[in-house]
Amino acid sequence: MSQPNVIYLKDYQVPAFLIDHTQLHFELMTDYTQVSATLTMRRNPESTEPSADLFLHGDKELTLLSLQIDGEQLSSSSFQRDDNGLTLYNLLDAFSLKIVTQIYPDKNTALEGLYRSGGMFCTQCEAEGFRRITFFQDRPDVMSVFDTTLSADKALYPVLLSNGNLVDSGDSAKGRHFASWHDPHPKPAYLFALVAGDLAHIEASFTTMSGKEISLKVFADAKDLDKLDYAMQSLKKSMRWDEQVYGREYDLEVFNIVAVDFFNMGAMENKGLNIFNTSCVLAHPETTTDASFQRVEAIVAHEYFHNWSGNRVTCRDWFQLSLKEGFTVFRDSQFSADMNSSTVKRIEDVRLLRTAQFSEDAGPMAHAIRPASFIEISNFYTMTVYEKGAEVVRMLHTFLGAEKFREGSDLYFSRHDGQAVTTDDFISAMQDVSGRDFSQFKNWYNQAGTPVLTVTDEYDAQLQCYQIHISQYCPATPGQTEKLPYHLPFCLGLLDENGSDIELAEGESSLLELTETSQTFVFHNIAVKPVPSLLRGFSAPVKLEYAYSREQLVFLISHDADGFNRWEASQKLAAEIILELVDKLINGEELSLDPCLVEAYRAVISDENLDKAMITQVITLPSEQYLAQLCTEVDVSNIHRARQFVRQQLAAALESEFLAAYQGARQAAGRYDPSAQSIAKRSLQNLSLGYLMALNKESHLTLARRQYDTADNMTDSMAALALVVHSQFTQVAEDLLSNFYLKWQEDTLVINQWFSVQASDPKAGTLAKVQQLMKHPAFDFVNPNKVRSLVASFCMQNPINFHAEDGSGYLFLADQIIALDKTNPQLAARLIGPLSKWSSYAKVRQSQIREQLNRILGSGELSADVYEVVTKSLA
Ligand code: TRP
Ligand code: ZN
Repeated sequence: MSQPNVIYLKDYQVPAFLIDHTQLHFELMTDYTQVSATLTMRRNPESTEPSADLFLHGDKELTLLSLQIDGEQLSSSSFQRDDNGLTLYNLLDAFSLKIVTQIYPDKNTALEGLYRSGGMFCTQCEAEGFRRITFFQDRPDVMSVFDTTLSADKALYPVLLSNGNLVDSGDSAKGRHFASWHDPHPKPAYLFALVAGDLAHIEASFTTMSGKEISLKVFADAKDLDKLDYAMQSLKKSMRWDEQVYGREYDLEVFNIVAVDFFNMGAMENKGLNIFNTSCVLAHPETTTDASFQRVEAIVAHEYFHNWSGNRVTCRDWFQLSLKEGFTVFRDSQFSADMNSSTVKRIEDVRLLRTAQFSEDAGPMAHAIRPASFIEISNFYTMTVYEKGAEVVRMLHTFLGAEKFREGSDLYFSRHDGQAVTTDDFISAMQDVSGRDFSQFKNWYNQAGTPVLTVTDEYDAQLQCYQIHISQYCPATPGQTEKLPYHLPFCLGLLDENGSDIELAEGESSLLELTETSQTFVFHNIAVKPVPSLLRGFSAPVKLEYAYSREQLVFLISHDADGFNRWEASQKLAAEIILELVDKLINGEELSLDPCLVEAYRAVISDENLDKAMITQVITLPSEQYLAQLCTEVDVSNIHRARQFVRQQLAAALESEFLAAYQGARQAAGRYDPSAQSIAKRSLQNLSLGYLMALNKESHLTLARRQYDTADNMTDSMAALALVVHSQFTQVAEDLLSNFYLKWQEDTLVINQWFSVQASDPKAGTLAKVQQLMKHPAFDFVNPNKVRSLVASFCMQNPINFHAEDGSGYLFLADQIIALDKTNPQLAARLIGPLSKWSSYAKVRQSQIREQLNRILGSGELSADVYEVVTKSLA
């Protein structure tokens, strides 16, 4: 097999040519599409090679019909085609290049470029999909003004959309019609989009801060018309918020969103024409859970915010991906924090970071948020680039404060409007407004791995002096053994014996700046030995080690003024207790639960000053995935057993509290609404029901059944369904599952939830069920949402079954990856994740996993996507 090329950041060169204008004409036919591209080109004055040839990217599946320069057909000796594109020789300094290609959207199962989803044509061009449409300099530093004309059958495709503003439309011969769109803002090809289909829409208008009226539309299949309001509301909130918090105004006459069923990721920020996975835009109380409502709000905001952070100012090359993604995730998390509860949002973000990003950073695919090399850029749309990237921006915000940070972002946007830039340019703007030196801070962009901070302290009663020593260290990652120390903000508080924050002496700050491997900070006038509340708000994406006693953790859970750290203390306490029980299980000792956890939980549940959202967070046990993170050798089944034991013990000791919390929330429930407050109520209600169900009592089963039968919203009915399906009451589970299917069989997204509830069942025998469900008529191997709801749910949300002793889970996943690589390489590569972390498991499992990775590698011609992840995982 020919090995795919490695691309290096250090090899970056400016493009030899620029494309000032791109005119596209799409003739959309039933079984093919003809694309005519007219490119207005000139040599790049900044290129150091004044007589360079022109290289245009182009997929090997493109059918080239014609190639003309300034109206003349090119002779075969003046260009050459290979698997990656076209090279044109002996060019003038400026010319017009016309390319006609033919493509086959119906055969496109990879969902990159132009494809059909349901009956509609749509595109996905990020990162390198445009080269599957036509030959082009498909790199983000080539920015062009696009004019696009679509032509299609009017009855089948009444709606024709592209980027920018509509400038012309009308009927043509043979029942066809056309629409022409002009996008005045120069953009890279990855932001190009088109949609053609029979779509319904809702409409609204938004008046910008300078008084411009924008027409907003959200499009979807007619059957989903009643599920679009929430996305529209979220869009309006996002537009207003970006004006108020970042001073960013929208810049076209229209903003369109389209929902599609077949989509590799969540959504895409194409200029003026965002395209969304239906799962990230459709929302209705009866079919959508609270978690999905919040996801819709966050993703609509995320894609909208890209209009500035990504589109107006874009990336020079794909190594800079975190420039737009890290910053935009930071922006959408600020937005969600403002719209809902900021503490809960922070907890959720950190939970995700710690389970998914920390493990990526500790595995064979570990990479810096600005990687130095890659084989396939699609593999770098990662937790690291997105979530850790957002944490890095957040640290700058913490250093500068909201006001200076805003000055910095204003400078960044004005200085680089219309340009393709680098993460260094972003840092420079922040330095220039603040006069600070962030050169050491850039280590965050270049080094992979999660730093570990070790904290010790001492108190001198005589001197009334408290000292804290912090040392930092970052473990080696592939290709990076030596790490330089990081510059990071460390927020802390010191609690006195009543749990109040001690006021710090003049000149002393609760925001410490770490720059060295080891540092000491001294606090004066401290009258009693304080309990430190460390890394408040999770001020840096690090692991923290400090030898808290259980008493101190219990104290922090009930007193810390920082809500995040109250949760953090509860997680630390629970994790320590569960992992101690794991050791006991391994040594065959008898289990008992430390009563301090019960008492801490009891105090939290009955704390009238705590809001329900916080109570829910604090009394949620750490996940098995997070607990696995904390182990040097992961013992999947004993983690599961120990955690189950703790759940049951808590449920038994606090049964009446959970029952009261459950019933209280049920009684308080009014009509469904997705506000943070009602979500909090339902989350406490369903968490309580979960604890009760752990007791395996008929009376609690009755509660769950009643909730399922009477629920007027998907959150409550799905929570009840999941608890029953995952319980020992298998007959009732079967009844509810078939009832649910009959009720919702027409709704794809709901049936996806039905799949994933079954795939995540921790009971034995789930793999066989999943294999059975893959033959279900509602399953479709070519639809990524279906694959995620069944295959990914099993492999990622069901550790106990996925890591079955006989290796059947690994074998199953490898089979799916091999099959999927032939239809959808991006999706196939994403599924390798659960196999790449083999080194943290016991020897037997390690060799079972490696055997499957080797089997994938030997299975024949692989995509670059799968090849990269599998070879790096085996290295
Ligand atoms: N830029 C998209 C975002 O907002 C990510 C994305 C959507 C994507 N579809 C994709 C990336 C397909 C790679 C391939 O985060
Ligand atoms: Zn994004």
